[in-house]
Amino acid sequence: MTSLRTLRLARQVAASCRGRAIARAYAVQADLKPNTSYRSVTHPDSSAPQETHDLIASHTQYLLNTYARPPILFTHGKGCTLTDSSGRTYLDFTAGIAVTALGHSDDGVNKVIAEQSAKLSHASNLYWNEYAGELAKLLIDLTREHGGLGMTPDGKEGGKVFFSNSGTEANEGALKFARKYGKEKGGDSKIGIVCFTNAFHGRSMGALSVTPNPKYQAPFAPLIPDVRVGELNDMDKEKMLALIDEKTCGVIVEPIQGEGGVTAAKTEWLEMVATRCREVGAALIYDEIQCGLFRSGTMWAHSSFPPSAQPDIVTMAKPLANGFPIGAIMVRDSVASVISVGSHGTTFGGQPLATRIGVHVLSRLSKPDFASNLKSTAAHLDTLLSRLPGLFPGLIQETLRGRGLIRGIGFKDEKAPAELVKRARERGVLLLSAGSDAVRCVPALIVSKDECDQAIGVMESCLAMMVEEGWGKA
Ligand SMILES: Cc1ncc(COP(=O)(O)O)c(C=O)c1O
Repeated sequence: MTSLRTLRLARQVAASCRGRAIARAYAVQADLKPNTSYRSVTHPDSSAPQETHDLIASHTQYLLNTYARPPILFTHGKGCTLTDSSGRTYLDFTAGIAVTALGHSDDGVNKVIAEQSAKLSHASNLYWNEYAGELAKLLIDLTREHGGLGMTPDGKEGGKVFFSNSGTEANEGALKFARKYGKEKGGDSKIGIVCFTNAFHGRSMGALSVTPNPKYQAPFAPLIPDVRVGELNDMDKEKMLALIDEKTCGVIVEPIQGEGGVTAAKTEWLEMVATRCREVGAALIYDEIQCGLFRSGTMWAHSSFPPSAQPDIVTMAKPLANGFPIGAIMVRDSVASVISVGSHGTTFGGQPLATRIGVHVLSRLSKPDFASNLKSTAAHLDTLLSRLPGLFPGLIQETLRGRGLIRGIGFKDEKAPAELVKRARERGVLLLSAGSDAVRCVPALIVSKDECDQAIGVMESCLAMMVEEGWGKA
């Protein structure tokens, strides 16, 4: 385990170097040594019981082949722990891809699911239900309290919510709303949409069209027309003027990119984007599907941004019902005013079961105690992560990415993230890669400091072995 002295030093350096050249500061600390307690393979991918291999072979015949997965089958979960079919436990440092904020099989969530499913799960949007409006109100009230969507505590600015079933669907709806907003303001030719490099907004035709990654887009071209791609964080004013023009109806951006590599959009750049959107009358959409709902340390990654960098539309999904499918589009009154009966719809979205779970989850995530605990855990994780560039300067980029509990570790060798994810899994810790060069940490928001110690300890052991094997040598 990490020595206390090293941890204290690490904390001091992390505090003074946050966001700057952390690695250089570490390079001078001779006593900085990687954790090597987790060198042995304890969870080999191949060691699932024969019945599991048989079941996988059978299921492979029927499931479309869209994922490359190791032969691991999870049957149970609790908190940050997943248990596979042989009874082995894994530390889930992925939260099911930034979803299970309250951890797996949370007692409170289970109780709400049991109660509401025994009462009413679904009755369609042709009628009212008890919880969709309650969740919408909670989202608006909390956004007003914590900051976001340009709302001020005086309640002058309002907002409205539409519920969907996934993140992709939320973005799809947001793009449609931007089109309607644009057409009402500027006529039928105001239809252009702008997105940015390395964005990930989903896989349906509209959301895919603003996900400029050839790997995802190329097999499905042609995509929707009138989409332009700008460079994330490019402060060139002339380029911005050409990118977002009078024909633009909507601009979509993740305040902190998730899949694309955990890269944060700079506040001053977002101010520039938002200002240009206002100049031309385009709706600014912040996709907070991965970084939102307290993961970044604040309710929204944009909560603390100045009014000049606030969006007109916010999309969310992943943790809103702790794994029960739900998504939402939250819009300012100015956008809500162009949406009328028949503009959009869904069979499942806003059903009482999903929205009641959402009310429960959001009420807990927004409790002051929860926030202070998260802050303290995130600071601890930051301290641990801050060791890595100094420990492995040949492998790891100097600057860590993200904030709160959405963190990215950039690598100098693009093959290294997948290798680290595999080695960590073989030692019982689940991690994610992100973009072309990063490993992503998006644990449940209830993750403990001890679990952070374990996850980063395993990472250090694996990285130390990789260095011994020649990884990171120029
Ligand atoms: C930022 C962002 N937007 C959209 C999506 C798509 O969400 P979903 O997979 O729920 O459709 C994701 C999923 O990873 C995401 O991270």
